[in-house]
Amino acid sequence: MRRVVYTKVGGPDSIAIIEEEDPRAGKGEVRVRVHRAGINFADLMMRQGLYGATPDFPFTPGYESSGEIIEIGEEVEGLAVGQRVLAMTGFGGYSEQVVIDARRAIPITDSMSYDAAASLGVTYGTAYHMLVHLGGLEEGESVLIHHAAGGVGTAAVQICQALGVTNIIGTASAPKREFVEKLGMRFVDRETENFVEVCKAATGGKGVHHAIDPVGGSHLMRSYKALRRGGKLYCFGASAAVPGEKRSLFAALRMWRSTPKFDPLKMMNSNKAVFGVHMGRMDDESLFQSHLRALSSMLERGDIEPIIDSVWRFEEVANAQRHMHERKNRGKVLLDFE
Ligand SMILES: NC(=O)c1ccc[n+]([C@@H]2O[C@H](COP(=O)([O-])OP(=O)(O)OC[C@H]3O[C@@H](n4cnc5c(N)ncnc54)[C@H](OP(=O)(O)O)[C@@H]3O)[C@@H](O)[C@H]2O)c1
Repeated sequence: MRRVVYTKVGGPDSIAIIEEEDPRAGKGEVRVRVHRAGINFADLMMRQGLYGATPDFPFTPGYESSGEIIEIGEEVEGLAVGQRVLAMTGFGGYSEQVVIDARRAIPITDSMSYDAAASLGVTYGTAYHMLVHLGGLEEGESVLIHHAAGGVGTAAVQICQALGVTNIIGTASAPKREFVEKLGMRFVDRETENFVEVCKAATGGKGVHHAIDPVGGSHLMRSYKALRRGGKLYCFGASAAVPGEKRSLFAALRMWRSTPKFDPLKMMNSNKAVFGVHMGRMDDESLFQSHLRALSSMLERGDIEPIIDSVWRFEEVANAQRHMHERKNRGKVLLDFE
C-alpha cells in the first residue's frame, strides 16, 4: 500500500509518497481501506513544524478518513468486514490503508457518502463541540465566525442555522464575499472592514453571543471585544502563525507574543467566558463519539450537508495543500484514495 509522508519540516515539496507492506490489524484493532481523507489546516501547520501535538518526522498526517473495514483484529465486537466507517485516525489518515483502535471506527449509514463522512469529524466535530457542547448555543443568539468560507467555518454556519440561529457574521477574504453571503452570513472583509464594529451594529450595539476564533494572536482580543456581556469566545487556532506555504518563525513569534492574557477580574465583571479548544488533545472518546452521533443524525435529517471544495488524487497532495495556503478553498478539501 502507499501512504503520504511528511519527510521533514518544510513546504509542500517536502511531501513524499512511499510504498510498503500492508499493515495488519492487531488485538482490538481494525484495518480500513481508505476512500477519502480530510485535509485540515492543522496538517499544514504540522508540516511546518508549528503544531505541538505531532509525532517525530517522518510521519503520515491525517486525522480523519472514510472507507470500509477489510480486517478485524481479535476481541473486536460489533464491527464487520465490509462495514463502511469514518476512521478517526489521530495521525496517519493520508494512506491507502489504516489500522486503528476499533473504538475509533465510527459506522456510517449506507446513505452517507465517503466525501461527507471524511468531512464530518474534525470540522463539524470542532464547531459542534464549541458552539453546542461548550456554548449551549440557542435559537435567537448571534455568532461571529472567522475563516467563514473554510472547513470549520462552513460547518459552524450550518450548525448555527440548524439550531435556528440566523444572526451570523462571517469574516473571510474579499473573493469569498458572494460564497459567504449565499451561506446566510453578513460578510465582513477580513482585510478592510472592522468586524468589531459590524458585530455591534448587527446586535443593537451589544455585541455577539459567541465568537469562534482560529486566527490567534492579537486577533483574539478583537474577537473578545466583539462579544456582548455574557458572551463566549472560543480560541481554537493560530492561522496568524502560517502566512504562507513556507515556515515563518517571525510570524509564529509575532503571533505568540501578541496573544492576549485575559484578565479574570475583567471577565467576571462582564460575565464573558474564554474557552481554549484543541480536539486533537481531547482524551474523552465517549464525548467525541456522542458529538459524531448527533452530527450524523443532523446529516441524516438534512439539517447539515458538508460543502466539499475539491477532491484531489492523493498523489496531488502537495498541490491540494498549496490550494489551501493560497486561500482558495471554499469548504472542505479531501484526498481521494480509491
Ligand atoms: N483546535 C482545534 O481542535 C481545531 C480543529 C479544526 C480546525 N482548527 C483551526 O481552524 C482553522 C480552520 O481550519 P480548517 O481546517 O477548516 O481550514 P480552512 O478554514 O478550510 O482553510 C483555510 C482558510 O483559512 C483562511 N486563512 C486565514 N489565515 C490563513 C493563512 N495564514 N493561510 C492560509 N489560509 C488562511 C483562508 O480563508 P480566508 O481567505 O477567508 O482568509 C483559508 O481559505 C485553522 O486555524 C485550524 O487550525 C482548530
